[in-house]
Amino acid sequence: MADEPLVLGIETSCDETGIGLVRGHTLLMDAVASSVDEHTRFGGVVPEIASRAHLEAMTPTVERALAGAGARLADVDAIAVTAGPGLAGTLLVGAAAAKAYAFALGVPLYGVHHLAAHVAVDQVEHGALPQPCVALLVSGGHSSLLLVPDVATEVVPLGATVDDAAGEAFDKIARVLGLPFPGGPPVDRAAREGDTQAIFFPRGKYDDGTLDFSFAGLKTAVARWVEARERAGESVPVADVAASFQEAVADVLTKKAIEACRRHGVPDLLIGGGVAANSRLRAMAEERCEAAGIRPRVPRPKLCTDNGAMVAALGAELVARGVEPSRLDLPADSALPVTTVSV
Ligand code: KG4
Ligand code: ZN
Repeated sequence: MADEPLVLGIETSCDETGIGLVRGHTLLMDAVASSVDEHTRFGGVVPEIASRAHLEAMTPTVERALAGAGARLADVDAIAVTAGPGLAGTLLVGAAAAKAYAFALGVPLYGVHHLAAHVAVDQVEHGALPQPCVALLVSGGHSSLLLVPDVATEVVPLGATVDDAAGEAFDKIARVLGLPFPGGPPVDRAAREGDTQAIFFPRGKYDDGTLDFSFAGLKTAVARWVEARERAGESVPVADVAASFQEAVADVLTKKAIEACRRHGVPDLLIGGGVAANSRLRAMAEERCEAAGIRPRVPRPKLCTDNGAMVAALGAELVARGVEPSRLDLPADSALPVTTVSV
């Protein structure tokens, strides 16, 4: 609705410069400039390269977002920015830009938590979030289970990875299999031709009674299996390894997510983060949720990976709910706790 405030969201926690424009639950524009290609040859994100790329991409991406939404900077009613967690240097670039825009326009500024933003973005896809809901957030930087009584004010951590993030495991397995970085999409594609039951890889913390995850053992098991084949001079069945590995990841993630819903009596499960783009995870979540009487909510893949729309979506919710804005000297905090929805 045209009378709802127009919120500009800025996301720079990793390698995506994301600028989103949201009014209420309506996404007007989502512009992303990624520096991922500059990191490919290093096999992972190089923070200093990412920071410089954000600096160069910021103004053009804001302009592209405004043009796409048919809006001018003067139309913006509030600025939201990822205050953390993320890479310290890249967060700083976003926070500095957000402060400058907020100060210059004379509009309120909201520093928000990256994970809460991954949850809030679903409102521009499927409407108001059920309260409470359980959120499974899986990406290159995080693997978390959250209880979300109210995305604007209260997020409770239920579990997280004790070692690697799920996306990190995809990236490392891709490397072992000679597939490019980031590893999620090529592993997903290779797995389509493979047999999910070809090899049984270990599922970390599967029956330990916690809602935590562990992917380091799985990653090592896959690497050892591949090395053993190579040492024996045998060819590596890339598709089968990819499919069996992906099966193990999807199995633990969905098992624990459904367990979280059961324990807390919550019938709605939201899945977000880059790994939520995974075709097997999406299919298995749908199947298992249906069997358990749980309603899954998964935003479209473009809204699952890091973007500015998610930050704008959370900003819009904070504005609508009358949550107090942040101070202009808000800190960028690379280790911002998930219980802090806005700073
Ligand atoms: O949310 P995101 O864009 O950035 C972080 O906050 O990390 O997630 C990126 C991660 C990468 O590790 C990438 O390999 C993974 O998400 N990813 C996938 C798929 N698409 C992206 N993992 C599995 N299957 C996919 N289709
Ligand atoms: Zn993320």
